[in-house]
Amino acid sequence: MLLNWKDEYSVGIEAVDYEHKQLIDLINRLHEELAAKDSKLTVSAFLGDLLKGISAHFALEETFMRSLGYDRLAVHKEDHERLLDALRDIMDTFENAEEIDAGELSKQLDTWFSHHFRTHDAELHRILGAHPSTPATT
Ligand SMILES: [Fe+2]
Ligand SMILES: [Fe+2]
Repeated sequence: MLLNWKDEYSVGIEAVDYEHKQLIDLINRLHEELAAKDSKLTVSAFLGDLLKGISAHFALEETFMRSLGYDRLAVHKEDHERLLDALRDIMDTFENAEEIDAGELSKQLDTWFSHHFRTHDAELHRILGAHPSTPATT
């Protein structure tokens, strides 16, 4: 297991927390696929799923931030864009590479997401904590 869910990651919006847990699961599964040295096809499919899941998740967070008039939206969104660009780069590299350094890839994913959770998402959590009237999650 590469990443572990921690309660401190909670941003106080059920739908966001749920997606964070799902993304952690997906990254852990990708990590296992890589470690198992399964076919390149499997890993490509995982990277594709991960990109889709992450894009959808970022869009959800941005919707919440917008509806709250969150003043750190621009910086937070910028970090989302940066992570998506980096993931697309990884996918390109992966598609063209003969061999991939699985350990390096896993480490990179872990570093980014733990960092994003601990900084941007945690900050969002603090702000939301001060707004008991958080938008309802449907
Ligand atoms: Fe975020
Ligand atoms: Fe997030």
